[in-house]
Amino acid sequence: MNYSISEKDSGWAVKTWEKIQVKMDAECTRIGSNIPYIPVDGHYRDLDAPEGIYWWTNGFWPGMLWQMYHAAGDEKYRRAAEGVEARLDEALEGYEGLHHDVGFMWLHSAAANYRLTGNRDSLRRALHAANLLAGRYNPAGKFIRAWNGDRTGWIIVDCMMNIPLLYWASRETGDPRFEYIARDHADTCRRIIVRADGSCNHIAVLSPESGECLELPGGQGFASGSSWSRGQAWGLYGFALSFAHTKKIEYLDTAKAIAHYVIANLAQNDWLPPVDFRSPEKPVKYDSTAAMISACGILEIAAHAGEYEKPLYVQSALKILRACDAAFSNWNKDEDAIMGHGTGSYHGTGKDADAPIIYGDYFFIEAILRLLGKDFLIW
Ligand code: GLY
Repeated sequence: MNYSISEKDSGWAVKTWEKIQVKMDAECTRIGSNIPYIPVDGHYRDLDAPEGIYWWTNGFWPGMLWQMYHAAGDEKYRRAAEGVEARLDEALEGYEGLHHDVGFMWLHSAAANYRLTGNRDSLRRALHAANLLAGRYNPAGKFIRAWNGDRTGWIIVDCMMNIPLLYWASRETGDPRFEYIARDHADTCRRIIVRADGSCNHIAVLSPESGECLELPGGQGFASGSSWSRGQAWGLYGFALSFAHTKKIEYLDTAKAIAHYVIANLAQNDWLPPVDFRSPEKPVKYDSTAAMISACGILEIAAHAGEYEKPLYVQSALKILRACDAAFSNWNKDEDAIMGHGTGSYHGTGKDADAPIIYGDYFFIEAILRLLGKDFLIW
């Protein structure tokens, strides 16, 4: 995709890519097939996340490695990514800790490997994950349920980013069932979670018997009725991807509505993302991951936009990326992680409160590679 960016912006993207290569080369040597999440004292520790091998972010490091392998061609990235993929078999076989985020985990590992190298073991792993995701479908309410236990009627906006695994599985197998489930989930999400002004809820609690909406909790945002910025980002990018896979115009319209809401709010905040767009002004809390995901989603919209609207999207994505790079990036190659000031949830006080989080770096790298026409669409 040619985003037609100015010479100045292109110069910045090229320089940033050079810095990413230096940083990723050093990180790959240190981390290899360990599974990183949040650095402690500047360094990642292996599997140092709440749910161990089942943690939802465990695919992002192999995702970064496959993007690097695709763009830079160095075999060491491939070897490290394959090592993580093999380790994730413990989760695939263990099953009990698995959840709706199998898309994040295996799109970035096995599905990426299969699509880049043709590895048949990777194909089997990714199809297995797609079947697990499809198995979470509730036909009465037409949604993919989130999490486990008694949350039988929970649907969350984040899951818009897992359903590309189902679009891929339908294409790969020639069996439309996976795509039907993905479309049903997207339609329900659009009807219940996205609001008329383009903002989104994080969670909706539905009746698992009828699909009736019972409650709209605040989830990882400030409160019920607020606007968790990463949730907006998952919806923005997720609907853009659903359009890319199905060509159903309502999905692109929804992605644009969310993007316009996000762009308007970020423009009010010097293009730096608060954790929630509808939270008190103080204390100031940032979530750089929301910005990185939004930038990728806005670039995806730009790829489908008409001639006159495309520059609006490309310029907005660049403003977000450049502002966050200037304010939050750490280019010291002796320390792990690039993008600081990520935040897991508005009220969280754990180590994911105001910290570099692995998926912030994944989406930053994807965005820069998109601008340079070197990305691989993992989704
Ligand atoms: N999908 C989980 C999160 O965004 O925190």
